[in-house]
This record gives sequence, structure tokens and C-alpha cells, in this order.
Amino acid sequence: ARKIIIDTDPGQDDAVAILLALASPELQVLGITVVAGNVPLPLTLRNTCQIVELSGRDDVPVHAGCDRPLVRPLVTAENVHGTSGLDGIDLPEPALRPQPGHAVDFIIDTLRSEPAGSVTLVPIGPLTNIATAFRRAPDIVSRVQQIVLMGGAYFEVGNVTPAAEFNVYVDPEAASEVFASGIPLVVVPLDATHQALTSRDWIEGMRALPGRCGPAVASWTDFFERFDKEKYGSQGAPLHDPCTIAWLLRPDLFTGRQINVEIELEGRFTAGMTVADWWGVTNRPPNALFIRHVDCDGLFGMLTERLSRLP
Ligand code: BDR
Ligand code: CA
Repeated sequence: ARKIIIDTDPGQDDAVAILLALASPELQVLGITVVAGNVPLPLTLRNTCQIVELSGRDDVPVHAGCDRPLVRPLVTAENVHGTSGLDGIDLPEPALRPQPGHAVDFIIDTLRSEPAGSVTLVPIGPLTNIATAFRRAPDIVSRVQQIVLMGGAYFEVGNVTPAAEFNVYVDPEAASEVFASGIPLVVVPLDATHQALTSRDWIEGMRALPGRCGPAVASWTDFFERFDKEKYGSQGAPLHDPCTIAWLLRPDLFTGRQINVEIELEGRFTAGMTVADWWGVTNRPPNALFIRHVDCDGLFGMLTERLSRLP
């Protein structure tokens, strides 16, 4: 199985990404590291523990990470995800506790102890934990197999400012360092994730699954859908973060281009923009596979099949 660390800020779509990974034997989730993003760290941490507990996989370690971006104040998204960050269903206070070590130390120690080139990082929140680990332990950078992240936008521009996508906007300095790291990147931007829209049928299929995970996913996506329907008039909820895990499982469901992507840090209106050289108009070397399309039917078919394996 391919070894991954998921770095997350749940978030209903983060929750579905985590469940998809935990339901997939092709992936070995070495740990889940938590960052401040959609809501402050105490909540993203509690939400992660609830999700892992729901999946029945309390063997997977959860580590608390950075509670604020590298240099900017934290920006959150309760308007999208609700005050808990995981609104939609009332789950009990989790009995599952986070592990003692800091997420950044877990990332560093894991990359040093696993064989070089064997661990893939899957960041689905702001990139603060990842950039902090690289700053503190530059020797681990060359040991990362790949980074498969949700972030950025080019054709769909922004969802938090006219120019910027949330995960990159919250900590652009961190994103900039990760994009410049030289590690092979797969970037799933809004351009792709806005195609990954839940349908009524799919949500009802989730609700009808035996067990507790399917109905929880239905309640989360019901809540999450409301925001995009009102805001964008979209047909369903975009399952942004699950696209990263789906790409690891079924890259054939996605198409994109190997291009150069830089992060805007200074723009008056454009801080946090992913400046994507889609048309190859600069001579800057490619640093990312930038995903543009996703096979929506294939994605949701796989999600149903995988999530039905969970308790
Ligand atoms: C990203 O921001 C968060 O709100 C979602 O969980 C996703 O990671 C989408 O812009
Ligand atoms: Ca997220």
C-alpha cells in the first residue's frame, strides 16, 4: 500500500476525504496531522478525532499542528462549514484523543524513519504544517515521494477573494514554500473540484447505506450543499478534498497539465492567487501537475463503493 500522511482542517469535504482514504486498502494512512483553517485548531482537532472515531480506525494517529499561518492572522470559513467546522450532524464528544507529539514533529520523524521516497503528503487545508516541517528539517524535503494537494484555482479564480482559493489564501507564504520545494506536486484546484458536485441521488444513496458513516456523509453534504447552492447557484456540493485521495486511487479519472505555478504574495487584490502558467507563456519550469477535469460519474461511483465498506 502507498504510504500517506493527510494534513487537514475539517471541514465536511475533508471528512469525506479522510473516510475515503481509510476505506481504501491501496493506501496506508500513517497519520493525520491537523491544522487551523476552516475553523480554529481546537475545533479542527476535535472534528478530526470525531471522523476517525466514526470510521472505527482508532489505530490511525492524529496529531495537532499549527494554530495559525506562518505570518498572517488566521482567516476561517464558518460561513461555509458552520460554527463547528463540521456542521450537519451532532456527533458525540470523541473518546479518541490526539497523540502527544506535535504534527510538525510527526511529519519530520515519519519522513526520516520511513525509506526515502516512500511517503506521500496529502494536504487538504492551509499548508502551514508542511511548510513549517520543511523549514525546521530541510533534509526531509528530498525524502517526500510526492505532494497531492487541494488548493488554488486558475480558470475558476477565487472562492475567498476574487483571485484566491481558501487553502492558499489562508497561508500563502507556506504555499509559496511548498510550491518552490522541488517536490513533485499534484494540485487539485477549484477548476476540477467545482466539477465534483454531489447530486441528490448520490446523497440519498449515502443516507441509505447500512452503518453510521454513509448517513453521516449524507448529513454533512446536505449542510455543505446549501452554501454553494445559495452562493453560486451550483447543482450540489463540491467535494474538493476527496479529489486528492481519488487521484491517488484512480488517476485515470483526472486530466491536467504539467505547468509552472507560483503563489502571489504581494498583490494588492491578488494575494494568495495561484499564478498558473497554463499556456506556457513564461520560461519558468513546470513544478506541478495542475488538474483541470474530473470524471464526475467515475468519482462518485468510486466514493459510493468505498464508503459502503465502512462501519
Ligand atoms: C478548500 O477550502 C476548504 O473550505 C475546503 O475544505 C477545501 O479544502 C476549498 O477551497
Ligand atoms: Ca479542507
